[in-house]
Amino acid sequence: MHGSLTKLLGLDVGTTGVRCVAVDERGQLLADATEEYPLYSPHPGWSEQRPEDWWAASRNVISRVTARIGPDVGGIGLAGQMHGAVFLDDTDSVIRPAILWNDQRTAVQAQAITERVGAARLTEVTGNPALTGFQAPKILWLRDQEPKAYERVVSVLLPKDYIRLRLTGEKATDASDAAGTLLLDLKARTWSSEILEALEISARWLPQVFESPDRTGSVLKKVAKELGLPDGVPVAAGAGDNAAAAVGNGIVREGLASCSIGTSGVLFAHSDTMATDPSGRVHAFCHAVPLRYHLMGVTLAAGGALRWWRDLVGKGDYDELTALAAQTPPGAEGLVFLPYLTGERTPHLDPQARGAFFGLNSRHGLGHLTRAVMEGVAYSQRDSLEIIVELGTDPEQIRVTGGGARSPFWRQLLADVLGRPVVRTAADEGPAYGAALLAGMTAGVFASIDEACAGISLRPEVSEPDPERQRMYSEYHAVYRDLFPTTSRAMHRLSDLAGSAD
Ligand code: XUL
Repeated sequence: MHGSLTKLLGLDVGTTGVRCVAVDERGQLLADATEEYPLYSPHPGWSEQRPEDWWAASRNVISRVTARIGPDVGGIGLAGQMHGAVFLDDTDSVIRPAILWNDQRTAVQAQAITERVGAARLTEVTGNPALTGFQAPKILWLRDQEPKAYERVVSVLLPKDYIRLRLTGEKATDASDAAGTLLLDLKARTWSSEILEALEISARWLPQVFESPDRTGSVLKKVAKELGLPDGVPVAAGAGDNAAAAVGNGIVREGLASCSIGTSGVLFAHSDTMATDPSGRVHAFCHAVPLRYHLMGVTLAAGGALRWWRDLVGKGDYDELTALAAQTPPGAEGLVFLPYLTGERTPHLDPQARGAFFGLNSRHGLGHLTRAVMEGVAYSQRDSLEIIVELGTDPEQIRVTGGGARSPFWRQLLADVLGRPVVRTAADEGPAYGAALLAGMTAGVFASIDEACAGISLRPEVSEPDPERQRMYSEYHAVYRDLFPTTSRAMHRLSDLAGSAD
């Protein structure tokens, strides 16, 4: 479009902050900027943010990036935290703070949705069960709990789509993010009139659904001037953060999967066809690759479990901790850790699940317990992988990303527990980077998703599973898998006794 000088921007409206990256036509990173914003929790289990904060921070990071790279920008792609609800009135003003993906207030409404639609039908149409974090139960919560606010609603947007509205004046979304509302017909990749009617939600409230590389308008003249952008920059529909990150990691073909070890752990697998888990243990969403899908399993406390442990034992340094873990044998001499410190999504979908060390004996020391924490996280990711394989997608290799990817110990552990070679991408960039690549498709810089991902290279080092450790971990994993069903009653009782179900 602009010849060899075109630069592409990607913006990720995350939960802790917003990140903007600029890349060139080969996908090389040119500049980046991040800015944080607050998260509000006015009641236990509530999680809210101000869309105005997102917009102010987005303007700042875009301006900082254009100040570095100059105005020759050919496209902008959007990514963001999924599942949130931004309620707008007839002047497009925000009615109340946005309710986020990790908000737990909607248990009653999620239950009501399951009853109205029927659990089996809900998974058949939308690909997922009614989880409290999804967008649809939030709309019903507003109707039940804040009727005055509800009366004023004219549209409901997902977080990144509010930024699109401010950038372009257009209301639009993309199929990957829309799939996290519980209102999308996953197969047709459009809103489901059946679900909308059952829940008495007006289709007029929802934006049109596009595929991720589609153009959804261009940056408004006035906004472009303020942000140091040229006139008419197209804005890509973009994607939910996990699908955008997958594009950035090249997970865009059958047989490819990633494992991200950040605060949470996400096992993400590309699927050419729509496959859903009838019992809803893994999420089934649309991919950012047009007409494709993905399956996703989530360990809520992955790196977060190790951080908790590090802070608890007063070791400031992860390297020191993993060195201790490395001194003890695989399986930590008969010790298993359940990482359900903040409840669990995959495979239990249970906010009252609780963590545990199981098998403690007097020989066990700090190294054993540390190793067990990391192994427990890896077993949890294996639970996700096994369900995904059961549903017909068998990744031959796993690309590991996030903070954990930097540790050779994590990589070897994941290879041994998951039984697949583990590799890393050279850039190891997140959702903003994938959004920039999608913008390259919108701008005509890349003709296809394969071209967009052509610049993604793998580091030379590969962690191959060791056959002996793999066999041993399979046996330990079988013990791990048995522990939740046999202890969940006690977990629930303890969680009730402690007076919280967070
Ligand atoms: C995905 C999910 C999170 C959010 C926040 O289902 O809840 O990954 O997208 O980043």
